[in-house]
Amino acid sequence: MELQASLQSLHITSPDPAQAARFYSGTYGMTQIPAGDGFICRGPARTLQLSKGEASRLKYAHYGLQTDAAWKAFTQRVKGLEHHPVPEAMSACKDAIALKDPDGNIMVFTPPVPVKVEGASAALPPATLQHFGMRTTNLPAMLAFYTEQLGFVLSDAVKDPEGVLRACFLRTDALHHSLALFFAPVSCFDHQSFEAPDWQSMRVWGDHMAAIKVPIVWGIGRHGPGNDVFFMVRDPDGNLAEISAEIEHCEPGRPAGQWAHEERTLNLWGMAFLRS
Ligand SMILES: [Fe+2]
Repeated sequence: MELQASLQSLHITSPDPAQAARFYSGTYGMTQIPAGDGFICRGPARTLQLSKGEASRLKYAHYGLQTDAAWKAFTQRVKGLEHHPVPEAMSACKDAIALKDPDGNIMVFTPPVPVKVEGASAALPPATLQHFGMRTTNLPAMLAFYTEQLGFVLSDAVKDPEGVLRACFLRTDALHHSLALFFAPVSCFDHQSFEAPDWQSMRVWGDHMAAIKVPIVWGIGRHGPGNDVFFMVRDPDGNLAEISAEIEHCEPGRPAGQWAHEERTLNLWGMAFLRS
């Protein structure tokens, strides 16, 4: 049984938060509000906070449990784990729980929260912050933490010919993955993805990137795990940002899939971006 949780927001650091905020405002139709030494960027159902720091570092990710019953079950699950102080920006939520993964990433969980729909992008189609990816040098320990400790469910694993785990896709509700983990030489933030409702919306998003002269650096293609159609642009710090559609809806109890570590797995339609 999945946690019944969905990704609410990400907080990443950047050497130049103003530049990064301008990028996300333009590409993803978000407003930017000064916050501390950085900005909060918001669009309908998508929130990204940027603060001053090293490039490609996750400060924290926020998941909201979807029902009171799911929240109660989650608090029971993690009550024996070591809790981390809740980041100041989340302190208004007195029930929030923060946990640190083996790579030191902070994951914040809260009871159900209303979806924020304010934003500046009424002319753009919907695109909900749906999943994100991280690179890790420590993939087996990360997988064990998220599945065994937190209750994320493995949807698909990618292994090389020697049987070494190279990527895994974890879900927290019926959607195929809300977190992707990639084995890589350096642990860091990899990408975030905004899920559009359909193909037509992706075309509009693609034309929007063209209009503001932001090149698509990967795609358009279709991922093997998740079966989502996607394209990606790259932010000024080198992070990827994705628009996707048609992500797989998993039935409860769906067995975890196994994929070969090859380009076709990450892009059934063509070339892939392999992290290692
Ligand atoms: Fe993705």
